[in-house]
Amino acid sequence: MAEFAPDKAAAVIDIGCGTGLVGQALKTLGYSHIDGIDFSEEMLNVARPKGIYRKLVSGDLTTTTVVETGAYQAAVCAGSFAPGHLGPECYPEIIRLVQPGSPIVIFMNGAHFFEDDYPSHIDRLEQSGVWRIIEIKAFNYMSALERPGRLIVAGKC
Ligand SMILES: C[S@@+](CC[C@H](N)C(=O)[O-])C[C@H]1O[C@@H](n2cnc3c(N)ncnc32)[C@H](O)[C@@H]1O
Repeated sequence: MAEFAPDKAAAVIDIGCGTGLVGQALKTLGYSHIDGIDFSEEMLNVARPKGIYRKLVSGDLTTTTVVETGAYQAAVCAGSFAPGHLGPECYPEIIRLVQPGSPIVIFMNGAHFFEDDYPSHIDRLEQSGVWRIIEIKAFNYMSALERPGRLIVAGKC
């Protein structure tokens, strides 16, 4: 994230922010304008008192949320793309939330990446000209476990 969105004052949206672990990491990196979106009020209620996020939005990313088009200069999502949570059908809504040229940084379980055929969804969006893939890299998903992870970095066209 810090590599692709070096401006720490950029308005960043944490997708599927949950209890705020990603927001906390961004704050530690020096980001000053972090908002979060999640459809679980329970998770948002845990994140809210931490004081990390400027705004916490309740919204289902499988639908068009209340967030204004192009409201953000970067989107980040870690740990929220998984069966029963976010799926590739959420990509168009995430893309809608950021300005053209903005980075979208997604880190997910690498097993799901292949089992649920993310590559074909990613390619289709690239071929239709809505985003450009900057890189897709393999990383271990969790420091405590040996588990494949995939980092997807795209730029909104
Ligand atoms: C495994 S948690 C990860 C939370 C956080 N990113 C983290 O790393 O701690 C997945 C989060 O995605 C949220 N989520 C799942 N499906 C969603 C959807 N369709 N729209 C918005 N949030 C969703 C869940 O409520 C949950 O907070």
